[in-house]
Amino acid sequence: MDGTTYLSDYRPYPFTLDRVALTFRLAPKATRVMAKLHLSPREAGAALHLDGEQLKLISIAIDGQALKPADYLLSDTGLTVHPAALPEGEFTLETEVEIAPEDNTALEGLYMSNGMYCTQNEAEGFRKITFYPDRPDVMARFHVRIEGDKPVLLSNGNPVGQGEGWAEWDDPWPKPCYLFALVAGDLVATHGTFTTMSGRKVDLNVWVRPGDEDRTDYALGAIQRSMKWDEEAFGREYDLDLFNLVAVGDFNMGAMENKGLNIFNSKLVLASPETATDFDYERIEGVIGHEYFHNWTGDRITCRDWFQLCLKEGLTVFRDQSFTSDMRLGPVKRIEDVIALRTRQFREDAGPLAHPPRPDHYREINNFYTTTVYEKGAEVVRMLKTLLGDAGFRAAMDLYFARHDGQACTIEDWIKVFEDASGRDLSQFKRWYTDAGTPHLKVSERFDGGTYTLSFRQSTRPTPGQDTKPPRLIPIAVGLLGPNGDELVPTQVLEMTEAEQSFRFEGLGAKPVPSILRGFSAPVVLERETSAEERAFLLAHDSDAFNRWEAGSALARDTLIAMTEGRDAGSDYLDAIGMLIGDESLDPAFRALLLRLPFEDEIAQTIATRGGVADPDAIHAARETLARDLAARHEAALSATYEACAVAGPYAPDAEPAGRRALRLVCLKLLALVDAGARAEALYTAADNMTESLGALSVLIGLGKAEGKLAAFRAKWQDNPLVIDKWFTTQIALCPPEEAAERAATLAADPLFNWKNPNRFRALMGGLSANHAGFHRKDGAGYRFYADWLIRLDPLNPQTAARLSTAFETWARYDAGRKEKIRAELSRIAGQPGLSRDLSEMTARLLG
Ligand code: ARG
Ligand code: ZN
Repeated sequence: MDGTTYLSDYRPYPFTLDRVALTFRLAPKATRVMAKLHLSPREAGAALHLDGEQLKLISIAIDGQALKPADYLLSDTGLTVHPAALPEGEFTLETEVEIAPEDNTALEGLYMSNGMYCTQNEAEGFRKITFYPDRPDVMARFHVRIEGDKPVLLSNGNPVGQGEGWAEWDDPWPKPCYLFALVAGDLVATHGTFTTMSGRKVDLNVWVRPGDEDRTDYALGAIQRSMKWDEEAFGREYDLDLFNLVAVGDFNMGAMENKGLNIFNSKLVLASPETATDFDYERIEGVIGHEYFHNWTGDRITCRDWFQLCLKEGLTVFRDQSFTSDMRLGPVKRIEDVIALRTRQFREDAGPLAHPPRPDHYREINNFYTTTVYEKGAEVVRMLKTLLGDAGFRAAMDLYFARHDGQACTIEDWIKVFEDASGRDLSQFKRWYTDAGTPHLKVSERFDGGTYTLSFRQSTRPTPGQDTKPPRLIPIAVGLLGPNGDELVPTQVLEMTEAEQSFRFEGLGAKPVPSILRGFSAPVVLERETSAEERAFLLAHDSDAFNRWEAGSALARDTLIAMTEGRDAGSDYLDAIGMLIGDESLDPAFRALLLRLPFEDEIAQTIATRGGVADPDAIHAARETLARDLAARHEAALSATYEACAVAGPYAPDAEPAGRRALRLVCLKLLALVDAGARAEALYTAADNMTESLGALSVLIGLGKAEGKLAAFRAKWQDNPLVIDKWFTTQIALCPPEEAAERAATLAADPLFNWKNPNRFRALMGGLSANHAGFHRKDGAGYRFYADWLIRLDPLNPQTAARLSTAFETWARYDAGRKEKIRAELSRIAGQPGLSRDLSEMTARLLG
């Protein structure tokens, strides 16, 4: 067998496990874990299989009797007790194992970060801690005793006892082992409280390393806002008396929703005006919300198996997006989310890694924590809300919580809730969960005798393993505008169910201008021949903020593509955008988005989707030229806006001043093309916050005028890892592309390049792949450097190596030479002896 797991092979666990008692005797090289599991058989004669990897078995006993070697079988992946060695009814299994957290470089299971013990068990890390049925549908109550010479000893639930060198914890809520957590270290807490809607007082702690406690206030406030919001928006109350959050410097992902003990990558906790940007603040609030919201959508209701991952992740991303939308500017947040979806998820859907939000097979589940599961999963939930309306959606969510609390569920359970709550048949809608690929929607229109007809044709290209795609239910939000820009027909949701379908609007005096897919009501690619005049018209008049922005960005994109093809691009974009730069009636944050040219990667994606070959150098040149033209043409408006948007007073991370800074920095970047960076120099010197210093520095990097400042920046911040990560990323992502590979090599040789730290590794490699023309340099130097480092990281940390290999997923977009070079690097990686399961699955899929 090739080690593939299939959804269709799911079988319930043949035992119930209601209680677990764990004792940890901590030591870096030899931690002892004693586990006592209370089990009872659900079917007669079943063998007892427990997962376990890299565990040294010290002892094993059932009901106090040591097992004989013939009673069980030990393998690389677990332990199986023969049915004959099991009692008839319920019994207690006791094991003792030894593990070495200090040698755990994969950062999965129990590991050490800067002298602190911590855990990451989702998806399958718990099997590296003790022998256990490591699957989410086995839910048990945990009692935990920790012994160790650390001042702070934490686990899930409530503290039930502590003394010198030990602590005991009890979690009253049954949970799967992936939600188990342990933290032991020299930590300090910032403390706060929250009073829930039923009047219970909850203690809140943000735990960090000594010295970091002056950067925790924002995180604490974000926990409080999240708790309040979930009560108001979803009626969900917190269910323990204590909520702990810990920041960890070495972490593979963003954060983890362990019950009552969330563990976070420190970059998503620590913030001060001098060290964190507006973007960091927004993400911190969003991810704290995300992990907190998991308490209901993930912990109280969890997943039956890992194929159902989007049940908790898609829903919880949808919830955190809604939270941010309410805390900040809703329309701006929606545009940012759509940009992220298109640049990451559409890109995944268009390449060799395409998979449905609910996949049906995998080799390594860690490879499926993807933008498709998360962000597309969230879009699918959003469509359900669009179809049912606000009240219908809330009623369905209430039913979901009432019906499934305490259970491990499937996408089928979820769909059934929405069917029962709405009385609708959602079987066609379910294809969004099971089918991969982004539907393309072709639109045509007709107007005669007062009747306006919109016709749509949907189609989805084949994806790996799925050749034909039946039509899906697509909610298309449409409004119609009159010739003077008035809204003739307000937004209505057309429900497309056929491959081809027309919708009529009667009684119109003149041919309207349609505003299609308002709010991006479905994750599809809209294909419509639209004139530049019509786009400019929508940009000026559409009442839907998303489509207004979309009209402007489509103009910019088409202009850029025409330029890469050497066609006359015209000046429609420059003409249309000019009036909006200084338009005070528009939010600064919205104007900032309008003025930001599409990313090079996104242009490459669009060219490839239209059947062309993407040329990274031509795309880069076109974007530079358009930026220069924009700056030259609108220098006065940009300069006036730059001055008008200065934020007075002390820094605050709120949406309003952040929006002004965003607009200011976009103007700054354009103005640098006409003032040779004079304003950026001045702002860099004057700035009292990281948003503006890094913004100004970025501009100077792009101009090749930052070397001295980069050196000073490094010296100033060398003891702050999160700021040094920015130092790595920014210079490699924004430097002139022809320098990127050499600069990457220089940075990799810097003593601060601590490559075993995932944040630092990602800072450099992610920065390089973000430099589109630099990474895709014709001679393959970018590819080679990147592949060398994946090969080096894989034996230590396969999960992060595998995740970063997705930089190569776009090989099919480019010319034969680049294609060949990327594929050669992928083959070289694939050929490494002892390659991890994670990375070998990825290279196999990438090569197709
Ligand atoms: N459940 C976490 C979150 O999204 C992600 C954990 C992923 N961990 C992993 N090793 N794949 O909030
Ligand atoms: Zn999550």
